[in-house]
Amino acid sequence: MKLLFENIKELLQVRTEGVRRVIGADMAILPTIKNAYLLIENGRIADFGSMDNLPNFNKVEVIDASDKMILPSWCDSHTHIVYVGNREGEFVDRIKGLSYQEIAKKGGGILNSAKKLQAATEQQIYSESKERLEEVMRLGTGAIEIKSGYGLTVEAEIKMLRVIKKLKKNYTIPIKASFLGAHALPLQFKKNKEGYLQLLIKKLMPLIAKQGLADYVDVFCEKGYFNLKDTEKILKAGKRYGLRAKIHVNQFNAIGGVALGVKYNALSVDHLEVMTPKDIKALKGSTTMPVALPGCSHFINIPYTPARKIISAGLPLALATDYNPGSSPSGNMNFIVSESCIKMKMTPEEAINAATLNGAYAMGLEREVGSITRGKRANLIMTKPMHSYGFIPYSFGAPQIDEVFVNGKKI
Ligand code: NIG
Ligand code: FE
Repeated sequence: MKLLFENIKELLQVRTEGVRRVIGADMAILPTIKNAYLLIENGRIADFGSMDNLPNFNKVEVIDASDKMILPSWCDSHTHIVYVGNREGEFVDRIKGLSYQEIAKKGGGILNSAKKLQAATEQQIYSESKERLEEVMRLGTGAIEIKSGYGLTVEAEIKMLRVIKKLKKNYTIPIKASFLGAHALPLQFKKNKEGYLQLLIKKLMPLIAKQGLADYVDVFCEKGYFNLKDTEKILKAGKRYGLRAKIHVNQFNAIGGVALGVKYNALSVDHLEVMTPKDIKALKGSTTMPVALPGCSHFINIPYTPARKIISAGLPLALATDYNPGSSPSGNMNFIVSESCIKMKMTPEEAINAATLNGAYAMGLEREVGSITRGKRANLIMTKPMHSYGFIPYSFGAPQIDEVFVNGKKI
């Protein structure tokens, strides 16, 4: 089955094979082909080029993309979309003046979502979560990472990871799973943090490894949650079980989590709202991808990740939604791309690089998705008619999507 897009106004993020991520000043460059064609065969990108050199393909279904842009789908490398219920009550508490941390101290926050998840059946969790997955797919997300971390008991963490496994099986976009048992300390372990860490390391990790329930390991490395020592224990154990690290660091405080992540060869370090020169230095020359989550800054009113500092230091940057019920209840990557331009002073080129190829890298999927490259999956966004691609971030709040394709099929 072949599908040919013709007369594409501009085909974005065109890369030769082997480009795995975009770094520093190169992020300002978005390779494109104007007046282009794109051929899909068996769900993969087979050929592309200028309409001036359009070969004579036979037996193809043709889609006319006149006046429209085509780009690779968004790659959302950091989400917590498996949860039940919501935290609207805390939203109102914050409007009235409480901070995210004050709410957590009162027993709200992550523990609030954990209580709901523990009480829910696997089926209930699945049916609420799949709605969110379908919602973000319609918004152009063509690859996604999903974390556990609202279970916080052996049974409930496994239940969450099984839901992610079921989503992997039932949906056609690539999904990666991260084990985030070290998300918050459950009340019953309030005076026994070591006991909880040992439960994660000795009981949960072997089970997860045996059942193949996770690809990565995550920790909320933050004051009042898990300190450097705790984080190191989890990362060490993760290494033993083949789970590479993707960690929450520097959301409220810089406590050295970035350097620790780099030391353990983390695939990504995420949040980074607070960045010291030491953190930047630690990332230099590493294979770790820094990931910004502007939806969280927006929703809980905290500083934005200093993208300019990171990029001008010659580092790469990826963008993700952090879709979760507490700090970012939206999975709209179109909004994230806009927000990064408006609040973080990223250019449209940088934002698109960060939300596609660098996002793919941040979940180990850069060989599958994230660019228009021969052999990659045809997970694509076709925009509404527009004059130039800068209109995508410019028109914030109104996704400029005409059609979304997954493995070459319209969804
Ligand atoms: O990435 N900061 C830690 N974890 C999530 C929020 C979790 C929650 O509030 O439910 C985050 O922001
Ligand atoms: Fe998160």
